[in-house]
Amino acid sequence: MKESDRSSFGSRFGVIVAMVGSAVGLGNIWRFPYLVGENGGAAFILIYLLFSVLISLPVFCAEFVIGRRGRASAVGAFRNLAPGTKWYLSGFTSILAVFLILSFYSVVGGWGIKYMVDSVLLKFTQDAAGTDFAAGFAQFSTGNWAPLVYMLIFVVITAAVVILGVEKGIERFSKWIMPILFVLILVLVVRSAFLPNSDVGYRYLFQPDFSKVTSQTFIAALGQSFFSMSLGMGAIIIYGSYVKKSDNILSHSAITVGLDTLFALLAACAIMPAVFSFGVEPGQGPGLVFVTLPHIFSNMPLGSLVAFLFFFSLLLAAVSSAISLVEVMVSFLIEECRCSRKLAVFISILTQAVFGTLCSLSLKPGSPLTLGGLTLFDLFDKISSDYVLTIGALLIVLFVGWKMKKADFMDEMTSGGTIRLPKWLANTIYWLIKAVAPLAILTILIFS
Ligand code: TRP
Repeated sequence: MKESDRSSFGSRFGVIVAMVGSAVGLGNIWRFPYLVGENGGAAFILIYLLFSVLISLPVFCAEFVIGRRGRASAVGAFRNLAPGTKWYLSGFTSILAVFLILSFYSVVGGWGIKYMVDSVLLKFTQDAAGTDFAAGFAQFSTGNWAPLVYMLIFVVITAAVVILGVEKGIERFSKWIMPILFVLILVLVVRSAFLPNSDVGYRYLFQPDFSKVTSQTFIAALGQSFFSMSLGMGAIIIYGSYVKKSDNILSHSAITVGLDTLFALLAACAIMPAVFSFGVEPGQGPGLVFVTLPHIFSNMPLGSLVAFLFFFSLLLAAVSSAISLVEVMVSFLIEECRCSRKLAVFISILTQAVFGTLCSLSLKPGSPLTLGGLTLFDLFDKISSDYVLTIGALLIVLFVGWKMKKADFMDEMTSGGTIRLPKWLANTIYWLIKAVAPLAILTILIFS
């Protein structure tokens, strides 16, 4: 494809909005707090932060470089950059990842819609304080029909946005949502701070207890860091391929990684004090946020209104993340299988709906949809981040560090020499990509 034929983002601001829109989603607000709870709090957060700076930021730059220089989606970009080699095969891990992630992501997106509807039905007013929200969540999420209907609504909304195309769909849409969501989370952080016993939550978040760290903590933190920043499966390759040569890769990457981390930390600060204040079980897994938030809403003035605004913006944040996943599948089908855009979106919706259904039904107690004691939902959730994304990220850094010429990498990082990047900084990023990240990822994979 010629440069001029490829659609591109309308502005630099648009690029950042789209990348942050892809990164900030259920991963920050749903997955991060529940993993913090499962992995014992502060020590997990510390490891997470360390990995985000030392591994995820370099991986982000590497993916960006591959996308902008390769000018195609994952498989095509590898083929353009290393013609005649087998590197393009590594693009296929991204299809597996999309497939696994979209399945459970749609289910959780559906849960968000259900809670948005509940807030319209005034289920989170102060009269509801004292309700057993844990039982309510369990009953809903293990049901036969309701979670499936909500999941389908989520799938259809996502597909509608993708059909509108890059600029009109993704860019316009994300601009407004992130600031709104940010303010709402701040409101929750403040409300949580004034709950009785909130200090227990803060101690849990900020006082590391390293006796709780196991090899599983490391892989969970690394997988979550990739998941949250949309790394390891070519989403940033695609977005990078839409970005103009003059844009500064390092600053775009740093802004996205920074904002994503900020959202995750704030979400944890909103949830954890409330968890301890209301006696919610911190290690309960995927239901954590959906059990805790209703407690916060029903203990504040205008709770239903705040709940509605929150779940509405969470839905949009989840959709803006899901579209980047769907884009990976859709552009693969368009570029590799020569499908029309409509057909590609249709195939994507269909797989999303079928496997989302299986994930959702696997949560029913006694469901046969389990493997090795894990429900299909948990299995997809864990395998995708902990293994598929980490292996995808490993291949990406190996490619940039060992296959691509250093001069080509530097050319991208400095936009052909037009951006003055301090030498030490460019070299540090390069060595993080070439040596530190691959060694760290390999070690963690082997020991887990
Ligand atoms: N980062 C998103 C979130 O935190 C999820 C997501 C979107 C994603 N695109 C991705 C995860 C690509 C991995 C790869 O909710």
